[in-house]
Amino acid sequence: MPTSTPYAVPIVASVLRQLRPTSVLDVGIGFGKYGFVVREYLDVWDLADYRDYGSDQWRTRLEGIEATPEYITPLQEYLYDTIHRGEAQTIIDGLRRFDVIIMGDVLEHFEKDEGRRLVRKLYEHADSCVLLMFPPDCERNESVLHNPYESHRSAWNRRDFSSYENVTYRVLEGRTAMVALTRPGCVAPVLTPSFAGRARTGWRGMVAKSLVRVMGARRASAMVSRVARRKIVLTG
Ligand SMILES: C[S@@+](CC[C@H](N)C(=O)[O-])C[C@H]1O[C@@H](n2cnc3c(N)ncnc32)[C@H](O)[C@@H]1O
Repeated sequence: MPTSTPYAVPIVASVLRQLRPTSVLDVGIGFGKYGFVVREYLDVWDLADYRDYGSDQWRTRLEGIEATPEYITPLQEYLYDTIHRGEAQTIIDGLRRFDVIIMGDVLEHFEKDEGRRLVRKLYEHADSCVLLMFPPDCERNESVLHNPYESHRSAWNRRDFSSYENVTYRVLEGRTAMVALTRPGCVAPVLTPSFAGRARTGWRGMVAKSLVRVMGARRASAMVSRVARRKIVLTG
């Protein structure tokens, strides 16, 4: 289906607010859910004047790739600056780099080797981070919607990403696995729905980084939240 479970939506929104990318690629846009999330939380959220609401004021470069042309409607045409029609595994070679690349519920449609090659290419095209979502324990199913691009061909888990340097992995409600592959030198996002998560600079940043290094992001965040008596999410 050109859609997916909703569990990752608030986390993707939070990650976008943590990383503040200026360019995003959405691979396998389907109905366009992540296009909405990107536009709403990067371009509309900080609106200061209602007259700046229109797409001519949007600053994020948002591109998408979609293999099923029937799924593309004026809805997505409005949200995305460019939609590349065709297969991600070849289209990606001709694209520029992006701060963040999102691929939600697409990986399971590839045979394992081709999926691995695509993830590596996405990683090479990302300046900050690749975010992947997929159903854990996905079962093979060749006849979804009579669309070959919807067939379930592979199952993935945390071990499939062990060759990457900085991997964050979380399973949501047992239904959606979420992976962040962060590029060297970049701060890994915390996979939390909280909007309190953001990279800190100056002396706060140094303290946050040290705490996260020693305790891990989750325990460090819990400790400073207790002390401050409000929710704080440390990303290092
Ligand atoms: C399950 S839907 C997910 C849609 C959306 N990303 C979401 O999470 O709601 C998978 C989408 O990926 C597209 N797709 C599958 N294989 C693809 C490929 N090789 N290249 C580009 N798009 C592909 C399908 O056409 C479909 O729109």
